[in-house]
Amino acid sequence: MKKWRYCAPCLLGLEGLAAQELRQMGADGVEAQNGRVLFTGDEGALARASLRLRCAERVLVLLGEFEARSFEELFQGVRALPWEDLLPVDAEFPVTGSCLNSQLHSVPDCQSIVKKAIVERLGGRYHVSWFQETGPLYRVRFRILKDKVSVMVDASGAGLHKRGYRPASTQAPIKETLAAALAMLARVRPDGHFIDPFCGSGTLLIEAALLAKNMAPGLHRRFIAESWAGSDKSVWQQERQAAKALERPEEGFWAEGFDIDPGAVALTLENARRAGVAGCIRAQVRDIADFESASQYGCVVCNPPYGERLLDAQAARELCRVMGRVFERRRGWSYGVITPEEDFESLFGRRADKRRKLYNGMIKCQFYQYFK
Ligand SMILES: C[S@@+](CC[C@H](N)C(=O)[O-])C[C@H]1O[C@@H](n2cnc3c(N)ncnc32)[C@H](O)[C@@H]1O
Repeated sequence: MKKWRYCAPCLLGLEGLAAQELRQMGADGVEAQNGRVLFTGDEGALARASLRLRCAERVLVLLGEFEARSFEELFQGVRALPWEDLLPVDAEFPVTGSCLNSQLHSVPDCQSIVKKAIVERLGGRYHVSWFQETGPLYRVRFRILKDKVSVMVDASGAGLHKRGYRPASTQAPIKETLAAALAMLARVRPDGHFIDPFCGSGTLLIEAALLAKNMAPGLHRRFIAESWAGSDKSVWQQERQAAKALERPEEGFWAEGFDIDPGAVALTLENARRAGVAGCIRAQVRDIADFESASQYGCVVCNPPYGERLLDAQAARELCRVMGRVFERRRGWSYGVITPEEDFESLFGRRADKRRKLYNGMIKCQFYQYFK
């Protein structure tokens, strides 16, 4: 596969982290934009990013970008792109997209224009007028934002948050990509002690363990680009081997989870086993009011119940007060809490050392961090 520009969308607020991940894996032309990060590379770069990215949602080939204020401009712009470099004659290519703050605002109309333009381009190159679409899948996605069109093809298939270790979850699990981002922001160390006192299905503990041990989150799944025409299996195999070789299984990291619900504790242990990190994760039933640790140092990160989804608002606020009491100021300890609670700091009783606005699904939250 030739060199392409790629687009890795991510949750708002995580662009810097996703860009940092890409730079660390040696990607070229890394550029963080609102809600996405762009980079350039060959199939090896695509495989590396797909396997290793922790906090991006997916990877897409960015075929091109141009301005369009009319259907004609949209048609001409899409037809001018080098579709034949990516799509074979039997490609299946459904088109979906979005329009925001743009003159072109009818998504269904834009969808059919994009499809028509691709058919015309490929028809000319392959000398056919009808496409059977019986071959590999190339999901085309367009985004029209302030009259700027981005045309992309999804290279991931299932979103990158689908690591494969969480077929079942408790109520209100945190997304794997967001959990990984929180672990990165909390500066999880390879020899650290990580604690989630509201562990639910164990996502934060597992993502922290994968990070500490430098285990690639996508190692045990497949990506749609692997089924594309001309995809080189040996490239993906090499990248899997390279990612495996970077693992640090012997480090002293360990993680501890607590939850009031015995079912959640069992699920945490089950998911940790599926993720291949059961050896460093313990979990037991414990109410947050009884939180304690004899450990000299610790990094606590949690996603407590929010009034909206689990408990009523009053009970959720009471939990913030309890956290303020049990998360003692201790040398060697840090705490991170993601919550939509507007007056979290006053309930908790201390001003955070750092605050970052993040979305947990559709819920606007802040990640409050205490380092001392
Ligand atoms: C939002 S969920 C956490 C989800 C978790 N991060 C995950 O990815 O699955 C909150 C969890 O807090 C637990 N919980 C509620 N009240 C608690 C309490 N007083 N002490 C400890 N855990 C509690 C619930 O059982 C639930 O599993």
